[in-house]
Parts: sequence; C-alpha cells; structure tokens
Amino acid sequence: MNMIEVEGLTRRFGDFTAVDHISFTVGKGTVFGFLGPNGAGKSTAIRMLCTLLRPSEGSARVVGFDIIKEQDEVRRHIGLVAEKIILYDQLTAEENLSLFGRLNNLPEEQIKQAIDKWLGRLHMEAWRKHRVGTFSTGMKQRINVARALLHHPDVLFLDEPTLGLDPQTTHAIHEFILELKGEGITIVLTTHDMVEAETLCQQIAIIDQAKIVALDTTTNLKKLLSGDNTTVIDVEIANFNEPMLSQLKSMESIASVTRSDTYRVRIHTRNTDNIAPILSALSAMGASVRAINTVLPTMEDVFLHVTGREIRDKVAANVPSVGGHRWRGASRVR
Ligand SMILES: Nc1ncnc2c1ncn2[C@@H]1O[C@H](COP(=O)(O)OP(=O)(O)OP(=O)(O)O)[C@@H](O)[C@H]1O
Ligand SMILES: [Mg+2]
Repeated sequence: MNMIEVEGLTRRFGDFTAVDHISFTVGKGTVFGFLGPNGAGKSTAIRMLCTLLRPSEGSARVVGFDIIKEQDEVRRHIGLVAEKIILYDQLTAEENLSLFGRLNNLPEEQIKQAIDKWLGRLHMEAWRKHRVGTFSTGMKQRINVARALLHHPDVLFLDEPTLGLDPQTTHAIHEFILELKGEGITIVLTTHDMVEAETLCQQIAIIDQAKIVALDTTTNLKKLLSGDNTTVIDVEIANFNEPMLSQLKSMESIASVTRSDTYRVRIHTRNTDNIAPILSALSAMGASVRAINTVLPTMEDVFLHVTGREIRDKVAANVPSVGGHRWRGASRVR
C-alpha cells in the first residue's frame, strides 16, 4: 500500500522553479530519502507534502488524502520534524510537549500518555522537568522528534534530522528512525549525507536543481554505475596537487574525478582498459602513485555519476538561490 503518491509536483517562486515536476510513491513502513545538496528543493518538496506550501502544479496524496483539498486530514496523519527546531526555550520539555499537544487539539489523557511514551523512548525522561533552553542541540532535537510524534502519525517527515548533531546523537536518531519504521510508520527524510541516506533509506531520490535525477533502492542506484560499465578507481598519490587534478579532469578517458582527501583521488572511467593509460599519464605528470585500487561504488560515486558533480562541491559552493534565502545554505555548511 502506498502512503504517499506524488505526481508532477512543482513549486515556483516567481520565475524560479524550486521543485520541478517530481513524481514518486512511498510504501507503508518504508523510509524514503531525498538526497541532494543545499538549495536542491528538498525542504520545499517536504513543505508541500505537509500542506505548509501550496504547489504551483501537480498533485499528491498523503495517507490517501489530497494535499490541496484535504489539508486537515493530511495534517492529522503526519508529523513533521522541520529544519528549524520549534520549541520554547523558557518552557520545560514536558511543558513544550503539552503545549504542542493542546495546539493539536489532542485530549489531555492522550497528551500525558504520549509524553511518557516518547520521552521514555527517546531517553529524555530524566530531563522532563528541565527547561529546553538549557539543552544541547541533540537533546532539543529529541524533544522536537517527540513533539512530531505526539499524535501518533502514520507518516513522519524529517527535514535533515541529524544536521549539526554529534556522531552519538546521530546514531541514536538513526536507530530510533529504524525502530519507528519497524513499527509500520512511514518515514520521509531529507539529507545531504550519503551515509545517512544509505543507512536508513529503502528508496533514495537524488534531487538536484529542483529535479529528481535518479530514484531507486541503494543497491540499484549503485548498479547504475556497474551497469554502465563505470569503474571506480581509488588512487593514492604521495605528492598529489591541484594541477594534477586539473590534468586528470581534462583526460578523455576519465568520466569524472574528485579529490577524496589530501592524497587520494577517485576516478570514474567507463572502461577498465583505461586504467593503464591513466597510470602512464599520472607518471608523466610526476605523480608518485602509492596505491591504486578498483573499489565498489559508494552513494557518493552514484551522486557524482548522475549529477556530474560531487555533493560536497555543491554544498560548499552554496548553489545560487533567490528571494533572500542565500544565507541559509551558507550558514549550514558543515
Ligand atoms: N519562500 C521562498 N521564496 C523564494 N525562494 C525560495 C523560497 N523557499 C525556497 N526558495 C528557494 O528554493 C530553492 C530550494 O530551497 P529548499 O529550501 O527547498 O532547498 P533544500 O534542498 O532544502 O536546501 P538545504 O539543504 O539548504 O536545506 C532555493 O534556491 C531557495 O532559495
Ligand atoms: Mg532544506
């Protein structure tokens, strides 16, 4: 059964298209991920599905309800963990949750039970009576997640749920998301973290410049590379420098190349016969090659393959934006 059905969903801001005719379905109890760089249109897509933003074109049903004609029903069945943490610093964890429960018109008894349940499951019970203003970002995010779950939604939307969190909290949130999935809750999340997408999502939509450029399971996305005869080579070069990277980029036989750290490059080439000429070229450049390995493609390679650029390039470059939103991307670069 599909919990979400999206057809040609589009959002324009003036003459700028933030989301361009995206279509997909999400099955019950699965995790669906939007993977894309800053400004790709992930949050805009989520906001339309949560009825916070009206589409310019296209349609979608969430839990069987139309996002334009049946907004109240949609809202009753979904929870949203938005990009920004929405909590009152002056109130305690419990007071915040209680307030949001009442704003959602939940009965008092249900609010109490839900607070006990979610604070317990998110390991925040001990902090119930403490003011949220004293919490770390990770603790605030746990309360934010509890807030989104108070009314036991069928679908939970999480917009970059682990952005800026430390590895332990990130891991805890990942585990929690997988638990919810196991309980039949359908999850839609956005991320620009490849590992997060790969760890959590059955289906990944790679979104770039407002469009879904690839949509499949992680395994099938990786097959995009092998099916296409693309070989990924990891080369370690002791004296690696930027001019070498430029020279590699200009080589015909190389589909794409990125620097993965100080001494390593990842090269995509369509034919294994190209490996020897690439090595000769490196040697002619004076590169001192320490190791060369063909490696299994990662989601990073898939992203590079379908968009022609590395996700980190785009995050750092802060893809152009309009309407006073430019600051957001810049402030969120990790
Ligand atoms: N209300 C708005 N008015 C004008 N432009 C907007 C508005 N909301 C979003 N945009 C623009 O639409 C594009 C997509 O924004 P969106 O927030 O959906 O991207 P994103 O993929 O969530 O990025 P990030 O990773 O930075 O959160 C951006 O260029 C943004 O500036
Ligand atoms: Mg966003």
